[in-house]
Amino acid sequence: MRRALSLIAMGLGAAISAWAGSDRPDASAPATSAAPAAPARWAQNLPDARSLARAYALKSETVQVQEPHASQAGRPVLRRYRGFDARDFLDHWLGPGWQDSGGEVEFRARDGFVSRIPVARFVQHTALLAFARVDGKPFQLDVHAQHEKQVPLGPYYLVWRNIGAPDLIAEGGAQWPYQVVRIALRPSSQAALLPAGLPPGHEAAAAAAQTYCLSCHQINGFGGDKMPLNLAVQARQMDAAHWQQWLLQPQSVKPGTAMPPLPETLPPAEREAVVRQLHEYLRALPVTP
Ligand code: HEC
Repeated sequence: MRRALSLIAMGLGAAISAWAGSDRPDASAPATSAAPAAPARWAQNLPDARSLARAYALKSETVQVQEPHASQAGRPVLRRYRGFDARDFLDHWLGPGWQDSGGEVEFRARDGFVSRIPVARFVQHTALLAFARVDGKPFQLDVHAQHEKQVPLGPYYLVWRNIGAPDLIAEGGAQWPYQVVRIALRPSSQAALLPAGLPPGHEAAAAAAQTYCLSCHQINGFGGDKMPLNLAVQARQMDAAHWQQWLLQPQSVKPGTAMPPLPETLPPAEREAVVRQLHEYLRALPVTP
């Protein structure tokens, strides 16, 4: 397994030296070649950190974060990671203009977990594309909410500078994808999540679904492949009380389940409001096959 991965990385390492030159905007290029190498690259696995550093002249930095996957309410866990500044890396990987695209950066993990993070968040907050722990220990973590021990984080793990940013701490680890193998720029998901047939007023719930649910689940075909249930269908099959218990305390419904609860770091009133809004939103959403 390890060997297979490093072989893939070697192949890509060679390929990336060829790409490295193709990123610079070329004033003389005809308008029709406006989107050259980048989309092809997005369908490939990321090269290893050394190849990336070399191809794009990236410097690694370190950051200390409050580790959301390991922290519990009232028991913060601090960790230091080494990685590349995410904006620097994305400037190269996604190509010029990504910050103004109004789209989303898609992080795809080895197991089908997908995180789509609005470009605006990278403009507002600072993230690191981490590839190692600073203390030299194995690049892995006990993931508290999913009851998984020593989960490998590599090849890449997106971590946010959350110390001193209470809103990021409250939100938990939903936008901290690990085992990231691919990164791509995608159009905004608003058309799938807020389609024309939906009455107005569900914007906050759609954003919450994207933050807390769609890394694993889907809405009408849009979302992750880890547990690709269509939530618009699921919500119609559960009454409000069952829905609430499942989202707030999945362990009390199915002990040992890998479904995480809504982050316990959110204020209790907000957790309940999010649960209610999600249920109403998903039931109002037209189901498409
Ligand atoms: C990290 C991945 C992950 C995230 C994020 C996640 N879930 Fe799940 N979900 C699961 C897994 C795994 C199952 C299957 C659980 C089982 O059967 O033990 C599941 C099952 C479900 C089910 C079906 C339950 C049943 O009894 O059949 C619903 C409904 C659901 N999730 C809703 C949600 C909603 C709503 C959110 C966001 C608030 C969410 N999930 C976030 C992993 C996730």
